[in-house]
Order: sequence, then structure tokens, then C-alpha cells
Amino acid sequence: MNRSIFVIIVALTIFVAFNLAYAAPKYVGGDKCKACHKLEKYGNQQEIWEKSKHAQAFTVLATEKAKEAAKKLGVDDPQKSDKCLKCHVTGFGAAAEAKDVTFKMEEGVGCEACHGPGSDYKTMAIMKDMKQAMAAGLIMPDEKTCKKCHTPEGNDFYKEFNYKAFFAQIAHPRPAPAPAQK
Ligand code: HEC
Ligand code: HEC
Ligand code: HEC
Ligand code: HEC
Repeated sequence: MNRSIFVIIVALTIFVAFNLAYAAPKYVGGDKCKACHKLEKYGNQQEIWEKSKHAQAFTVLATEKAKEAAKKLGVDDPQKSDKCLKCHVTGFGAAAEAKDVTFKMEEGVGCEACHGPGSDYKTMAIMKDMKQAMAAGLIMPDEKTCKKCHTPEGNDFYKEFNYKAFFAQIAHPRPAPAPAQK
């Protein structure tokens, strides 16, 4: 192969790879979703989430109960250990570049833990079109999403997971559409 063509191909490959990595959606943090999803007209999912245990998932790691369970695994501070953070925060394991400055793991198990990183789907124009939103990274979660965390391994407090019963406890539907006007 001609050497300069080879150099061009290598340069292009690096350029494309860089852009793909750069374009990957980022975790922006639940506060970004709140702007719209605290509104009653969309169903105020924010308030339902704030009252759920998922909103406490990080702070609960600072309790005596948490520290005691952690001690058995040789963990001093559960809020700093991957052995616990693994299931108690949003975006665990994602690269630092995949987390925007607005993202804080202190939010616990936030919207994006189930719905996927939101940087690319959170604009009104895209959100209003589910197809576009999903193409931009929105996940409509199912039982498999839950079972990434609701498994017994490493979870001292495991409760038998039943999707229907557990989902009922965190259900955050949007309002039913208003009946058609006569
Ligand atoms: C600019 C306002 C806005 C922001 C910010 C926003 N959303 Fe939305 N979202 C909407 C609207 C509007 C809808 C469609 C509501 C409807 O049709 O009732 C929607 C729909 C959704 C749906 C349902 C999708 C479907 O079509 O069934 C999910 C899930 C969702 N948003 C999650 C999120 C998450 C997670 C974030 C933060 C990363 C977020 N949204 C940020 C406005 C927003
Ligand atoms: C990123 C990990 C993660 C995912 C994904 C996840 N959960 Fe959880 N969930 C947790 C953690 C951690 C707690 C415990 C928080 C606490 O007690 O402070 C919890 C607690 C709960 C509780 C309360 C249980 C109790 O002890 O009363 C329910 C209900 C629940 N989750 C339902 C679900 C459902 C349904 C899904 C999927 C749609 C899901 N979770 C996905 C991590 C997760
Ligand atoms: C495999 C995922 C997973 C791991 C790893 C994990 N947890 Fe959890 N944790 C959960 C889930 C899910 C719940 C909610 C109970 C349930 O539904 O199983 C929970 C609940 C808790 C609770 C609340 C218990 C209660 O009764 O209110 C504490 C405290 C806790 N975990 C501490 C820890 C500590 C400390 C670690 C690390 C040593 C840890 N967890 C590791 C998933 C996990
Ligand atoms: C523990 C996982 C989990 C978390 C956290 C979570 N969701 Fe959801 N969300 C789901 C599941 C599961 C569904 C139902 C999917 C389906 O119907 O196919 C859903 C559905 C929705 C819908 C569509 C409701 C409808 O009636 O069509 C919206 C809007 C939404 N979520 C927004 C949010 C927002 C905003 C947050 C954060 C404040 C959030 N969700 C946090 C799991 C989660």
C-alpha cells in the first residue's frame, strides 16, 4: 500500500474513533430531568422518585447499619467502596468522560440509572418523540434493568425480587390524556 494512503487511513480511523467516543451520551444528573419532570402536567415523576428509597441509596451507605454490613467485607467506608457503590449510585462503572459536571453520585439511584445517560435526549424536541429519544440513548427499562442491582450477590439486605410488586412501589406514570372535548 502506498505509504501516504496508509497514513491517511490511520489518521481517519483515529479521528472517527475519537469522535465516536466524544459523542457518547453523558450522565447529566437527575436535576436536569427535574426541570420538566417535576411539572404536574408531565406526571411529576421527580416527587415520586424523591420519596422512593432510590433517592436515599447513597446516603443510606453512611448509616451504622451499612457500616456494620461493610465491616464483614473489610470495607471501612461504604460510600467510598466499589463493593457498595456498584448498586447504590447512578452510572457506576461509566468512564469519567461519560459524566457531565452537573452529575453527582450523591443523588443515589437517579433517573438515568434506569433510563440511561441523558445528555442527548433531554431536549424538548427529542423528548417529545419517543423514537428519537430512544435513538439518543433513552432506555425504557424492564425487569432486566432492575436485576443489574436487585440480585443477592454482595447485597446483605437482599429481598426476593418480584418485578410486579417492586415496580408498583416506584411507579411514576404520566397523567392519562385528558378526555377528548365534545
Ligand atoms: C425540556 C423538558 C424535559 C427534560 C429536561 C427531560 N424531559 Fe423527559 N420528557 C419530556 C416530555 C415533554 C415528555 C413527553 C411527555 C408526554 O408525552 O406526556 C418526556 C418523556 C419522557 C419519558 C417517557 C418516554 C416515552 O415516550 O414514553 C421518559 C422515560 C423521560 N422523559 C425521562 C427523562 C429523563 C431521565 C430526563 C433527564 C435525563 C428527562 N426526561 C429530561 C420533557 C423533558
Ligand atoms: C443502580 C441499581 C438499581 C437499579 C437499576 C434498580 N434498583 Fe431498586 N434499589 C436499589 C438500591 C440500592 C435500593 C435500596 C436503597 C435504600 O434502601 O436506601 C433499592 C430499593 C428498591 C425498592 C425498595 C425496596 C425496599 O427495601 O423497600 C424498590 C421497590 C425498588 N428498588 C424497585 C426497583 C425496580 C422496580 C427497578 C427496575 C425498574 C429497580 N429498583 C432498579 C438499586 C437499584
Ligand atoms: C448487588 C447490588 C448491591 C450491592 C453490591 C450492595 N447493595 Fe445494598 N442494597 C441493594 C438493594 C437492591 C437494596 C434494597 C433491598 C432489596 O430490595 O434487595 C439494598 C439495601 C441496602 C441497605 C438498606 C437496608 C435496609 O434495611 O434499609 C443498606 C444499609 C445497604 N444496602 C448497604 C450496603 C453496603 C454497605 C454494601 C457494600 C458492602 C451494599 N449495600 C452493597 C443492592 C446492593
Ligand atoms: C428504578 C428505575 C427507574 C428510575 C430510578 C426512574 N425510572 Fe422512569 N421508568 C422506569 C420504568 C420501569 C418505567 C416503565 C417502562 C415501561 O412502561 O415500559 C418508567 C417510565 C417512565 C416514564 C413514562 C411513564 C408512562 O406512563 O409512560 C417517565 C416519564 C419516566 N419514567 C421518567 C422518569 C424520571 C424523570 C425519573 C427520575 C426522577 C425516573 N423516571 C426514574 C424505571 C425508572
